[in-house]
Amino acid sequence: MTVKRRTFLMGAGAALALPRTTLASPNVLRAEPVSAQILPEGDGATAMLGFNGSTPGPELRVRQGETLAVRFDNQTDEGSSVHWHGIRLQNAMDGVPGLTQPLVQPGDSFDYRFQAPDAGTFWYHSHNRSWEQVAKGLYGPLIVEEVNPPQVDHDITVMLDDWRIEETGTLVGGFGNQHDFAHAGRLGNYAKILPSRSTVALGDRIRLRLINTATARVFPIRIDGLAAKVVALDGMPLATPRALEDFQLAPAQRVDIIGRVTGQVDFLFVLRDDIYEMGHLAIVGENTTPLSASVDALMQPDVKRPKEIPDRSLTLKMEGGAMGGRHAGGDIWSFNGVSGLSDALLASITRGETAVIDLINDTRFAHGIHLHGHHFYELADDGTQGDLRDTTLVDRGEVRKIAVVFDNPGKWLLHCHMLGHQASGMKTWIDVS
Ligand code: C2O
Ligand code: CU
Repeated sequence: MTVKRRTFLMGAGAALALPRTTLASPNVLRAEPVSAQILPEGDGATAMLGFNGSTPGPELRVRQGETLAVRFDNQTDEGSSVHWHGIRLQNAMDGVPGLTQPLVQPGDSFDYRFQAPDAGTFWYHSHNRSWEQVAKGLYGPLIVEEVNPPQVDHDITVMLDDWRIEETGTLVGGFGNQHDFAHAGRLGNYAKILPSRSTVALGDRIRLRLINTATARVFPIRIDGLAAKVVALDGMPLATPRALEDFQLAPAQRVDIIGRVTGQVDFLFVLRDDIYEMGHLAIVGENTTPLSASVDALMQPDVKRPKEIPDRSLTLKMEGGAMGGRHAGGDIWSFNGVSGLSDALLASITRGETAVIDLINDTRFAHGIHLHGHHFYELADDGTQGDLRDTTLVDRGEVRKIAVVFDNPGKWLLHCHMLGHQASGMKTWIDVS
């Protein structure tokens, strides 16, 4: 097989380290217009939105079990909110305007405060007009450290994103156009990694925390230069780490990888006969006192196992999109024929019940289905429990079952994380009480 190796669509995919901003004291996360160097150094800067002066926003880190208290200060000219993606927190802190809190108007603030029950890789992002606000940069990493973290030389957060951007550095307009909404969403023409560190030494043992922050792009990824294992998906440790192979990362999904650096660490976007480099971690020197090469499982999460026989069987049928017909009220997409948030919620569930949900994708596009406030097990065809996730990719025509114990009271959103789809109908909610 001959593969062409080139940078993604245009420009060089140089790895630019994330700007390191810290929280002002007291902890404030200030959303505001920022200027970012998305294109390679020397090309134009891009007017975007960010937190505390940068996009991505500052990396928030807490220890498992600790409380994160952050004042969200909205200095943009649009209403907004912050959602803590993947955290099993109390409902009032979930950041969903109209469901769990009022919209935070320009100039206003909102105090978030919650305990982080699970160690892992999470992220935060705007949850209003997210197809535009997230695409413009209103997101950042949220890392919950293990009480006894695995020993590594470097713990590196790597956000992956793509942008629809002109050669001048200006973001292409037309956010929220119906054509994007009805198809795969706002796919970018330029993609790269945003790593928290851009160099490693040969022989280093590193932990990579990949987070797909794109609003629509499913990244097919290969990582070269690393002998490693996958240790967690969506912040949830695997019972048995798996050898790192090529994988897909859907919007909002995360993967944690631990291993040894054997060469320049390349992040490759793999299409059938094309490979694009999204960036790399350069080698500087050699580590002559290497840490152990074995990769053990991380401490298992305290997530309830669904019962074999569920209390509830639910169906989430995805319909609509281009060539998929229109829905009442002009919405493009629906779940079970219902578009958007309405009184027609998916289910009212008694706290502690196990539900199995059939995710039926009856559309011509893939959808990344995300449940708030809980993690769920992906089920194999024979019913065996697979990976624990908060976002699962359901391909066109595919049917996938998930099982979840609804043990967190409140009103929880269930939606497509292709954010244009969410905006045009693909969301519903579940009431747990
Ligand atoms: Cu990451 Cu409802 O979203
Ligand atoms: Cu979708």
